[in-house]
Amino acid sequence: MNDNESKLAIRDLKVEYDAKGRRTVALEQVNLNVKDGEFVSVVGPSGCGKSTLLKVVSGLLRPAGGTASIDGKEIAGVPDQVGMVFQNDALLPWKTVIDNVRLPLEIKGVPRKEQLHEAQRLLGMVGLEGFASYYPKQLSGGMRKRVALARTFAYDPEIYLMDEPFGPLDAQTRVKIGEQFLKIWEQVGKSVLFITHDIEEAIALSDRVVVMSARPGRIKAEFNVRLERPRPFYDIRFDPLFKDLQKEIWAQMADEG
Ligand SMILES: Nc1ncnc2c1ncn2[C@@H]1O[C@H](COP(=O)(O)OP(=O)(O)OP(=O)(O)O)[C@@H](O)[C@H]1O
Ligand SMILES: [Mg+2]
Repeated sequence: MNDNESKLAIRDLKVEYDAKGRRTVALEQVNLNVKDGEFVSVVGPSGCGKSTLLKVVSGLLRPAGGTASIDGKEIAGVPDQVGMVFQNDALLPWKTVIDNVRLPLEIKGVPRKEQLHEAQRLLGMVGLEGFASYYPKQLSGGMRKRVALARTFAYDPEIYLMDEPFGPLDAQTRVKIGEQFLKIWEQVGKSVLFITHDIEEAIALSDRVVVMSARPGRIKAEFNVRLERPRPFYDIRFDPLFKDLQKEIWAQMADEG
């Protein structure tokens, strides 16, 4: 693929950390494209550099070598076309649910009435219409994740960067949130770079799944997910193509020890 066709293009990326005089090479020779509207997931063992990759793309971390570009422009500083959902949900504890969700719209200068309307619509989509006036601490972990999701959709960036956005949730809640997320995303159709350690989740959501090797992280395999869209987030798991992919990806992961 030509870099010009990519929403996101990562070329020969190298990232190093310096901690107390010890240098860690977190990423090396990473090459990855995400097309406009494409959903790409990254899976790989803990510590292989998945969060590091997302931090570079979100402009929070400067690479030691190589480039990361959005729409052909090299990322320097925090670009305004990206929206990040972190491994922790990072809601503002002093703001109510609805105020957390409408914050990106407020920053964009959307009129207040529209902010409230859109935030309420998104809360409905994640199944939290009755919780607008609650504070984050009054919600369960899964509900907080859903608020964070609604806020990301309110921001509606050119590319969604999601680092284990469904976090350490129980299997049932993960499936529920995944379902809601997939439904909204299929309407929005923006590019996504999604990090997860859950292979099933990665396949169910993605157009492509990328497997990273253990540190220093490199891309060791890529799998196209040729499953119909819109997809049923849970039932797609019973598709034979899903099972085959799961097996192949698992074999690549197991190989990493
Ligand atoms: N701020 C930092 N300073 C020094 N080393 C770091 C820093 N952040 C990450 N690292 C190191 O870089 C490597 C990659 O870390 P990273 O957080 O990107 O992994 P990950 O793939 O996201 O892991 P997990 O699946 O556990 O979230 C690890 O070895 C980690 O110790
Ligand atoms: Mg991580």
